[in-house]
Amino acid sequence: MTAFAAPYSLHVLAAVIWVGAMFFAWMVLRPAAVSELQAPERLKLWAEVFRRFFRWVWVSVVVLPISGIGMWHMRFDGLEAAPRYVHIMTGVFLVMLALFLRIQLLQLPELKRAIAEQNWPEGGAALGRIRKLVGINLLLGLAVVALASARPLF
Ligand code: HEM
Repeated sequence: MTAFAAPYSLHVLAAVIWVGAMFFAWMVLRPAAVSELQAPERLKLWAEVFRRFFRWVWVSVVVLPISGIGMWHMRFDGLEAAPRYVHIMTGVFLVMLALFLRIQLLQLPELKRAIAEQNWPEGGAALGRIRKLVGINLLLGLAVVALASARPLF
């Protein structure tokens, strides 16, 4: 096993946990909750799901740049020497981080407030805004995983 193995494994695990959980939330849990639950239960379920899921996203957003920058130093001679896909991966990460922080700091409190006030229409609107940003992050995450795995030669 080389020294590269540890950061590489941590990096891929962090990506799998974050992107895989977003895929499950969007493609499986969301339609199941819509078909089986009324608005109050559904909104409370999502608030609890986000509370638990976002702890793992915080772990991922710390592990990804630390392991990524570590690998960058081990594998390539300096920042400019890395292939373009590594630069793209870093840029997309910053966009994904910004969207996650927006959900965590602005949109999730809106959802919790609406639930506390039993304002279900407002809660539904807040959940819709979160769903949109999670959908964008899911697409970005899938694209980055596909790009990094393909290791294009540009
Ligand atoms: C600051 C952010 C990031 C940095 C500095 C970074 C850097 C790196 C580096 C240096 C590699 C090794 C490349 C190689 O060996 O050719 C790598 C691999 C990888 N990265 Fe990132 N990365 C970052 C964010 C992300 C994000 C947000 C994701 C996905 C959500 C991701 C997914 C992957 C995957 C799946 C691989 C393995 C590709 C493979 O070899 O098959 N990375 N990253």
